[in-house]
Amino acid sequence: MASFWHISIAVLILLFGGSKANTIAGPRSQLDVNHKKQLQTFRPYNIAHRGSNGELPEETSAAYLRAIDEGADFIETDILASKDGNLICFHDVTLDATTDVANHTEFANRKRTYEVQGENVTGWFVVDFTLKELKSLRVKQRYTFRDQRYNGKYQIITFEEYILIALYADRVVGIYPEIKNPVFINQHVKWSNGKKFEDMFVETLLKYGYKGQYMSEDWLKQPVFIQSFAPTPLIYISNMTNSPKVFLIDDTTIPTQDTNQSYYEITSDAYLAFIRNYVIGIGPWKDTIVPPKDNFLGQPTDLVARAHALNLQVHPYTFRNENAYLHFNFHQDPYLEYEYWLNEIGVDGLFTDFTGSLHKYQEWTTPYPKKGKKAEAILHEIANMLKDDGY
Ligand SMILES: *[C@@H]1O[C@H](CO)[C@@H](O)[C@H](O)[C@H]1NC(C)=O
Ligand SMILES: *[C@@H]1O[C@H](CO)[C@@H](O)[C@H](O)[C@H]1NC(C)=O
Ligand SMILES: *[C@@H]1O[C@H](CO)[C@@H](O)[C@H](O)[C@H]1NC(C)=O
Ligand SMILES: *[C@@H]1O[C@H](CO)[C@@H](O)[C@H](O)[C@H]1NC(C)=O
Repeated sequence: MASFWHISIAVLILLFGGSKANTIAGPRSQLDVNHKKQLQTFRPYNIAHRGSNGELPEETSAAYLRAIDEGADFIETDILASKDGNLICFHDVTLDATTDVANHTEFANRKRTYEVQGENVTGWFVVDFTLKELKSLRVKQRYTFRDQRYNGKYQIITFEEYILIALYADRVVGIYPEIKNPVFINQHVKWSNGKKFEDMFVETLLKYGYKGQYMSEDWLKQPVFIQSFAPTPLIYISNMTNSPKVFLIDDTTIPTQDTNQSYYEITSDAYLAFIRNYVIGIGPWKDTIVPPKDNFLGQPTDLVARAHALNLQVHPYTFRNENAYLHFNFHQDPYLEYEYWLNEIGVDGLFTDFTGSLHKYQEWTTPYPKKGKKAEAILHEIANMLKDDGY
């Protein structure tokens, strides 16, 4: 917990120190959204995929704080559950790729093989570790070609710690948590009173005040999108929360993990018309919207147009700066990729590993409206009128 509590304590000192000194404006809480810069809603959302994981180990407090510094509108995470039922921020069902678990001899006998979405997977599974054990591990960078200096420095964080990072930000920052692998989690983790993973997930959001329809006053104070690749949990929770939900769509070869439906079925007009009763948008893999050929962009499909016709937002994933991920049309320039998706395809949000780059691009091309511009325009008009009157 060291790194997170370090931040938390710093914030608390700020809070208490600030409220005593600030006698004119009165005590001002870091959590008081009325004094914070609001979420921008005039341009597509910058969604920090697993935090700024292009720079720092994914889904750590450091990756989220960096993303907030760099201008993220939303910080994105994957929610899984520990053996003792605690909700944590972690992407894979196994710990192997992004932690130092292999170096912990005390867990050597904890390796298992389980069936996950129709495939046998072997490794150290999150669901076989208590939260305390998970906290004894340290997170590392997933990709060898990214900065390795932060390996071994940060712990896995809980869903609640992630929420607090967003709530303590000095401007309104949204959260974008995923109900990850719900079929697998409900098979392996049991809660009291017969509660399911989805119940625990929503209870956590409600506990911290996340509620309200998209763009409602409550939502704008604490923006959230709930996401899942599995449609059943999104439908199941629709009675428990009216927070906006996004249905994620995988590669064309991967069926849904709960309903075993094909990509073609879930992107049909009929299915989109059905799921829109429960979700505000879809989150497709970008290569299914514009299928590439030999690393060049192919002909875009009509998925975005059909989704927009049904008033569904489209938030594609995942945008990455590195050459290996950029189709040749973009001349190894990630800004050209953003230009293409924002201006030619026209999407409503982008999941990016490099929030800072997307933020810079949007500030250059669609900056926040300048304060006082209106007043300037009026003065200009008056000056013109006076000129016409011959003064
Ligand atoms: C695990 O230990 C090996 C050697 O003991 C070391 O090279 C490696 O960096 C360690 N891995 C992690 C993730 O700490
Ligand atoms: C996984 O392994 C078990 C035990 O070996 C086997 O019975 C099962 O068919 C395997 N499942 C898949 C999807 O390969
Ligand atoms: C929501 O609640 C109503 C009334 O309790 C029930 O009839 C309905 O089936 C529920 N819907 C879902 C999706 O659970
Ligand atoms: C899922 O659907 C495919 C294609 O229709 C079928 O072959 C497969 O048996 C199904 N799997 C399950 C687990 O129902």
